[in-house]
Amino acid sequence: MLEIKNLKRYFGGVKAVDDCSFKIEKGKITALIGPNGSGKTTVFNLISGILKEDSGKTLFDGIEITHMTVEETSNLGISRLFQQPRLFGNLSVRENLIMAIDEDNTRFWKNLIGYKLDREKGDKINEIAKLTSITAFMDKQAKNLSFGQKRLAEIARALVKPHKFLMLDEPVAGVTPPLRKEISELLLKLKKQGETILLIEHDMNFTLNVSDKVVVLDSGKVIAQGSPKQIKTNPKVLEAYLGD
Ligand SMILES: Nc1ncnc2c1ncn2[C@@H]1O[C@H](COP(=O)(O)OP(=O)(O)OP(=O)(O)O)[C@@H](O)[C@H]1O
Ligand SMILES: [Mg+2]
Repeated sequence: MLEIKNLKRYFGGVKAVDDCSFKIEKGKITALIGPNGSGKTTVFNLISGILKEDSGKTLFDGIEITHMTVEETSNLGISRLFQQPRLFGNLSVRENLIMAIDEDNTRFWKNLIGYKLDREKGDKINEIAKLTSITAFMDKQAKNLSFGQKRLAEIARALVKPHKFLMLDEPVAGVTPPLRKEISELLLKLKKQGETILLIEHDMNFTLNVSDKVVVLDSGKVIAQGSPKQIKTNPKVLEAYLGD
């Protein structure tokens, strides 16, 4: 579904992403792991078009998306959860989801009061709210949610956006162990429904438990890739995580 070929992006002397290549298979959960600053978020930003690569290629469903803008990759069906929270605090959770599902946002802003959403989209929002366990606080202002509730609402937002491919940047960073478990179950459920997911995560247990394939970055380079089982015992990975 997605193929990254020799992707490179430097920031001055920092080799954030350095000749990085890997593939993502449809219907699977692929995890991108690596120490702090190893280039994970930069890879996401290159795929989605937030950043431009110095060189290399990205193919999505066989289409070259290397030089596309965020809007173009989004229209092709790439949806993402950001590492930093991005909900509109003064809007309710439901309104945040409406903003994501309705491509024509201007229509929403102009008619905030009395805004009518298509029945089909309303049903989709309710279905995803249920799936992500946020039904109880759909009408709360986003700024009044707990950290964990915000994270769930943001996952829901990434899901309601029409998409073929989902990128999640640290969905469980800072969340409590019970919610961590709930989100891991959610990811497995999503996979069963046919979602293709690229996941960035620091929590090794979480990652190895949910993913089909793991790609390990260190200083912008892919130092290993394989099944969770292969990664767990790979000496290069152990050194990157535990070394010096
Ligand atoms: N916009 C930028 N300008 C300058 N340097 C940047 C920029 N974005 C990232 N970097 C640098 O590139 C390197 C990779 O950063 P990146 O955010 O991709 O790492 P990461 O693997 O996501 O880290 P973390 O696990 O902490 O989220 C780091 O050294 C970072 O400081
Ligand atoms: Mg990051």
